[in-house]
Amino acid sequence: ETKPRTPVIWLHGQECTCCSESFIRSSHPIAADVVLNMISLDYDDTLSAAAGHQLEAVRKQIMKEYKGKYILAVEGNASLKDGGVYCMVGGEAFVDVLRETAEDAMAVIAWGSCASFGCVQNAYPNPSGAAPVSEVISGKPIVNVPGCPPIAEVMTGVITHVHTFGTLPELDRFMRPKAFYGTRIHDKCYRRPFFDAGMFVESFDDEAAAKGWCLYKMGCKGPTTYNSCSKIEWNEKTSFPIGSGHPCIGCSEPNFWDNGPFYTR
Ligand code: SF4
Ligand code: SF4
Ligand code: F3S
Repeated sequence: ETKPRTPVIWLHGQECTCCSESFIRSSHPIAADVVLNMISLDYDDTLSAAAGHQLEAVRKQIMKEYKGKYILAVEGNASLKDGGVYCMVGGEAFVDVLRETAEDAMAVIAWGSCASFGCVQNAYPNPSGAAPVSEVISGKPIVNVPGCPPIAEVMTGVITHVHTFGTLPELDRFMRPKAFYGTRIHDKCYRRPFFDAGMFVESFDDEAAAKGWCLYKMGCKGPTTYNSCSKIEWNEKTSFPIGSGHPCIGCSEPNFWDNGPFYTR
């Protein structure tokens, strides 16, 4: 209760903003509790009332005032091609803003598959030379929180950990927190008994689809995808892709756009 809130600078590079959309829907803890009691969201060019040079001045002020103490949260990735001109912020290439802001950060959180792995922007042929945060920044602790978007409670769970312990959670080989990316979708999927029994959906409008059988033959990537969707689910346990009758497309794994097809037929 007496712990000061952790300053956060939240940058937006090449992205769609649905990671932010996911974050604000967290229910455990609720996003408002995170923003009002745990962190001080001092810079977020999507959510701030201020804009342009006024807001950039705030970023520089926070970097100076809280040197080595702020968290850098990054949504989206950086364009490296042609000097980074395909993603500009306040007249500067986003890649330069990212490098500058990372310099004195305590730790870096890469939100979503864009910041973690590149996502759709660096799918072949990657016209803007999009590169994930870990390829731009070195010498800083980085945690990847992939998913397109990541689950809201996974996002707030990671922030809660960093704020509470002042360290990053235990990570896997892709720098993802093991607590949330330690098991495959397939391991906890409620359709698993159908997989084990060899009972598969063969087309989206067949009887097996109506009965909720396994989606493996429809291209489901659950057996090779590490994420918490089949445990935590989305929107207060409302559902997740497989619960809606669609295969997992492996959105929390590297290069999922290039590793398709999303459908087997
Ligand atoms: Fe949007 Fe997906 Fe990128 Fe998040 S990871 S910003 S949801 S495209
Ligand atoms: Fe595994 Fe996908 Fe079948 Fe679920 S629907 S049991 S994740 S293959
Ligand atoms: Fe993504 Fe698969 Fe979950 S597509 S949202 S990791 S079920």
